[in-house]
Amino acid sequence: QNEMKQAVAKAALDEIRHKLEKDMIIGIGTGSTANFFIDELAKLKQDFDGAVASSEASAERLKAHGIRLVDLNSAGQLPFYIDGADEINGRLQMIKGGGAALTREKIVAACSDTFICIADQSKQVDILGEFPLPVEVLPMARSHVGRELVKIGADPQWRQGVTTDNGNWIIDCYNFKLDDPIKLESMINNITGVVCNGIFAHRQADILLLGSSEGVERLVY
Ligand code: A5P
Repeated sequence: QNEMKQAVAKAALDEIRHKLEKDMIIGIGTGSTANFFIDELAKLKQDFDGAVASSEASAERLKAHGIRLVDLNSAGQLPFYIDGADEINGRLQMIKGGGAALTREKIVAACSDTFICIADQSKQVDILGEFPLPVEVLPMARSHVGRELVKIGADPQWRQGVTTDNGNWIIDCYNFKLDDPIKLESMINNITGVVCNGIFAHRQADILLLGSSEGVERLVY
């Protein structure tokens, strides 16, 4: 699987390499696949200005490579956001947040023109929901949100011991078939105390670079 992650990271670099400009700021995701991409991107660090990170972990890795970190508020609209996913369907809608970085990921993705998802074949599904859906909540709202999630058909479990970069907690929703991801994304966001949920349907990926033993497939929806 590491070879596939490496291959899609290289493919993502090829996707943007000729579009890089000296003053360009790139949005960077979180997770093991995104880490491979950061290591690839470092090779071209002279060709762009800096990066906005979607987590403290990615920020550390970018910094270690000498890539300039930029605050999103001063970066404006970004040309590219490159990130992995926990699940992705045929419409390039995703579940993200396995690494607890969903909220910052969704914010950076929202500010980006092109979302390039890099993933190995194991992430590809017909219907989202086999992977437990992460929901970031304000700590004091954990029980309330949990009860509300049960009402809409989820089996919520608190990811104990995990605090997000924003100081919040994560509830994972098991046995939750997301047959209407757009509707459910809004519905969960409407529960008081929810900061963000891991359904990326309103802002899905634009390009999927999918790694398999045969190579990298490029999918656009
Ligand atoms: C982080 O919160 C997630 O959204 C990641 O993008 C996701 O977990 C993918 O991680 P891997 O590339 O490690 O599978």
